[in-house]
Amino acid sequence: MKVLEIMGEQELTGSLRVSGAKNSAVALIPAALLADDDVTICNVPDITDIDSLTEILESLGAKVKRASESIIVDPKPISNKEIPESLAKKLRASYYFMGALLGKYKKVTMYFPGGCSIGERPIDLHLKGFEALGAHVTNDKNKYTVEAEKLIGTNIYLDIASVGATINIMLAAVKAEGVTEIDNAAKEPEIVNVATLLNNMGAKITGAGTSTIKITGVEELHGCFHEVIPDRIEAGTYLIIGALCGKNLKIDNIIPEHLDSLISKLQEIGADLDVGVDYIIVNKEESYKPTNIKTLVYPGFPTDLQQPFTVLLTQCSGKSKVTETIWENRFMHLPYLQAMGAEISLKGQSATILGPIELIGTRVKATDLRAGAAMVAAGLIASGKTTITNVEHILRGYEQIVEKLSSVGAKIESKEI
Ligand code: EPU
Repeated sequence: MKVLEIMGEQELTGSLRVSGAKNSAVALIPAALLADDDVTICNVPDITDIDSLTEILESLGAKVKRASESIIVDPKPISNKEIPESLAKKLRASYYFMGALLGKYKKVTMYFPGGCSIGERPIDLHLKGFEALGAHVTNDKNKYTVEAEKLIGTNIYLDIASVGATINIMLAAVKAEGVTEIDNAAKEPEIVNVATLLNNMGAKITGAGTSTIKITGVEELHGCFHEVIPDRIEAGTYLIIGALCGKNLKIDNIIPEHLDSLISKLQEIGADLDVGVDYIIVNKEESYKPTNIKTLVYPGFPTDLQQPFTVLLTQCSGKSKVTETIWENRFMHLPYLQAMGAEISLKGQSATILGPIELIGTRVKATDLRAGAAMVAAGLIASGKTTITNVEHILRGYEQIVEKLSSVGAKIESKEI
């Protein structure tokens, strides 16, 4: 079994370079199959979710070349085969093959996707979007067949501003006849990044990043070159770690405006931040004020940073509150923080955290990706040794986390036990 071992209480200093955004790259790679020619995507993070998507593309027949931080997808040899359930279940983002294959071939057979168990994670809004475009959906247990004679643009209102549904509908609609309008669309930067790739391929998308996206269908999409935006969640995780144990710790290669909600919360508790054009330097402060956070869709406080931020709240003087509104099951890190000494009580979707508390290293579990990041943050400030199990969750989303943190002075090792 692979574990991460951390000897805590080290000061982290130096520079951490943020990689390309996981949640962007995992949509850009399936989107590439819509093109008729090579698509080159650079700044792709080296994480296991990308390996899984590459496997899916290859299972469809695509030629995929990976070189350092780039991936070149040649979609010409692709045939519209069924993606094996074992591959679809490896990650959440396998669902983007639904929109992309439906857009390209007007038919797709797909299994329900995998991913972190942070809630029920239905895909009803994706399917409703496909149906609104004229597709017929049949469902046999966890296998979905979505088929259309032709896809015709229409107005689609999303009941929830879902990231996945917004992207999936864009992927299906780029080659539909006429104009599709998505209302109450999600506004995350990753959506803008996907729309930019599609436009580079020849699509006609406007409004990405606002709540109304218009897609005018085109007949053909060509190859192009595209860059993944920096990962705002990886950056945010390292900023939180910097506030916990950084000394002039530079978080580099970021877009600070993507992190506005986190930056303002960090400033509110009294964090020492120097915000540059594409970097932030962070220093640990002696004490922090408590605060309340509520997770919301972008530009609100991201649910994906809620778990690491909880660790910082254990170091604030007084009572803080965290309210999770996106996922029903995103507090699985709390029992492990409690085992490390944190004073936390959970009622419904709100956790109350009393600080400051000295955390003590012990054996903990990465129950999901961001819970794992929270365990790493906790281990870095805890006294003694923290052993984190189920690290495969962490490696799905954080590129070279051990190497990056070691390079700024953390005592962290990946071990087989
Ligand atoms: N929802 C529905 N029906 C749907 C789709 C979503 O009810 O058809 C609900 C969900 O249950 C949830 C809410 O809508 O309560 C928001 O879900 P959304 O679709 O926005 O989430 P997602 O696309 O499945 C992406 C990220 C998540 C991130 C969320 C919210 C990817 C691959 N995943 O998930 O990232 O938490 O958006 O920002 O992009 C992570 O990186 O750790 C992670 C879980």
